[in-house]
Amino acid sequence: MKFFLDTAIVEDIKNAVQLGMCDGVTTNPTLIMKSGRDHMEVIKEISSIVDGPISVEGNGMTADEMIKEGKEFSTWGKNIVVKVPMTEEGLKAVRVLEKEGIKTNVTLVFSPSQALLAAKAGASYVSPFVGRLDDISHDGMFLVDEIKQIYSNYGYKTEIIVASIRHPLHVVEAAKAGADIATIPAKVLSLMWNHPLTDKGIQKFLEDSKKNEKH
Ligand code: G3P
Repeated sequence: MKFFLDTAIVEDIKNAVQLGMCDGVTTNPTLIMKSGRDHMEVIKEISSIVDGPISVEGNGMTADEMIKEGKEFSTWGKNIVVKVPMTEEGLKAVRVLEKEGIKTNVTLVFSPSQALLAAKAGASYVSPFVGRLDDISHDGMFLVDEIKQIYSNYGYKTEIIVASIRHPLHVVEAAKAGADIATIPAKVLSLMWNHPLTDKGIQKFLEDSKKNEKH
C-alpha cells in the first residue's frame, strides 16, 4: 500500500519522506491556502523533494480550461498529476490529458457510478472522499469496497486513492479494503504510531534498565 501526504506544508512532507512514509503528495486549493505559499512555487519545491506523484488542482470548470491548466501544471515538475473534478467537463479533460501522457486524478468522487466513469475515461487515479461521506452519515469506506470490486471485475488500472482521511482507522480500513493508496494528513500520520501501552512499556523498561545499572 502506498502512503501519500495530503498537505502542501513542506516541513510535514520532508518529515514523512525522512520516515519513508511519503510515496506521493496530494494537494487542493484549500491545502495550498493553508500553506500560505504561492501555488507554483510550493508545488515545484514539493516536486523536488518527493519522487512520487504530486497531485495539483486548478479552478478550471470547462474541459478546455482544465486541459490548459493541466498542461501548465505538468511543466512544474517531472511527477505532476492533474486533479480534475468529477464532472462531465472533467471527464472530457481526463481523456485528452491522458492521451497526451499527462496523468489525471479524478477528485470529489462520492459514488461508485462516478468512479466507474473515471476509470472508463482512462484516469490514472480516482479519489473517493471517505471523511466527507462519513460527515453526512454515509459509510465512506463502503464506497471504497464498491469501487475496488468494480475495478477488479473489469481489470481497470485506475488506482484508488482513499482521500478525506480523518483518523488512523480510515487508513487501516483502506488497507483492509485493498485500496492502492491512502492520502493522509500529517496529523493523522503522527497518530498512527502512538499507543499508550507502547509508551508505558518503554517507561517500564527504562526504569528497570536503571535498576540493572546498580548491580
Ligand atoms: O484529498 C482530499 C482531501 O484533502 C479532502 O479532505 O478533510 O477536506 O475532506 P477534507
